Amino acid sequence: MSTSKGVSKSTTDNKKSIDDVRQGYLLERLDDEVMAVNQMKGKFKASSNRNTNDEKSPGANKEGKETKEEENEEDETSSDYSFMKNIDTKTFRQYELACDRVKQFYDEQHEKQTVAYNIQARINFKTKTRARMNVWDALERLNTLLDESDPDTELSQIDHAIQTAEAIRRDNKPRWFQLVGLIHDLGKLLYFFDSKGQWDVVGDTFPVGCKFSKKIIFSEGFKKNPDFLNPLYNTKYGIYSKNCGLDKVMLSWGHDEYMYHIAKLNSTLPAEALAMIRYHSFYPWHQEQAYTYLMDDHDKKMLEAVRAFNPYDLYSKNDVRYDIESIKSYYLELIDEFFPKKIIDF
Ligand SMILES: [Fe+2]
Ligand SMILES: [Fe+2]
Repeated sequence: MSTSKGVSKSTTDNKKSIDDVRQGYLLERLDDEVMAVNQMKGKFKASSNRNTNDEKSPGANKEGKETKEEENEEDETSSDYSFMKNIDTKTFRQYELACDRVKQFYDEQHEKQTVAYNIQARINFKTKTRARMNVWDALERLNTLLDESDPDTELSQIDHAIQTAEAIRRDNKPRWFQLVGLIHDLGKLLYFFDSKGQWDVVGDTFPVGCKFSKKIIFSEGFKKNPDFLNPLYNTKYGIYSKNCGLDKVMLSWGHDEYMYHIAKLNSTLPAEALAMIRYHSFYPWHQEQAYTYLMDDHDKKMLEAVRAFNPYDLYSKNDVRYDIESIKSYYLELIDEFFPKKIIDF
């Protein structure tokens, strides 16, 4: 394996060269705003579901509804901003600025996440070692890289990792689930290795190689994607087939997909844990029920797992700040339990 630029140097040298080209807090701010929009969509969806259920007759057929949703997938109107229509003006204004930045970000992401880029990113992943370190050191390094020079950062990346993990632990979930909380965003290290920008690190993910669902946030941006007019890629199934299973589907490249491969190669985490890492930003699927026609039976179980994880990721950010040193040993042991190799090729 070859080594990409700078990674074999000492951490200090490496950090300096990275900081020269990337300002991590910009990625973190954008990611926070993406999450805020997803939180808002989730709340809106929950309230509109409540209203729909209130209107529905008590004997409504759940299975019938799902089939109808699947059939109507192609006809769904774009969700761009529409989820905000019924939100009060004051709340809307709070999010408006964030939304503009988020929309700009998605315009770029939706234009550039192509099949060709996806294949290249996967080749890069498989043919390079970007860094070698243990999982805890990787968390600390991500923390330093993302938060440096942001005076307004209230919570660091490691705080989010610990808060997510601690919320899961508090609910007495299995140890592997707690570890997912800790490492689910560790793939953001990609930003400092060989990503092209923010658009191939963060944001909601979606399949490439088949028609872009209108349930994807700000989906109009796909009109600029070269794959949009490619007859190989712009049909319902594209290069895939009905119920082929999501494992055969190329999801847009980012921190989720990257960390999934790292965890799959280096850990003994169960399938549910790997799915939580891989699909946690696949909101079009786990929140909007898009692409159900690509799922196989295994994915149905995985969807449950991903949905169980999502609230911990979205809602565990609060004012509780943990004394990391006092709980570090617990998490070091947890990492050792599932990452037997200790030193990982990132
Ligand atoms: Fe994430
Ligand atoms: Fe997260």
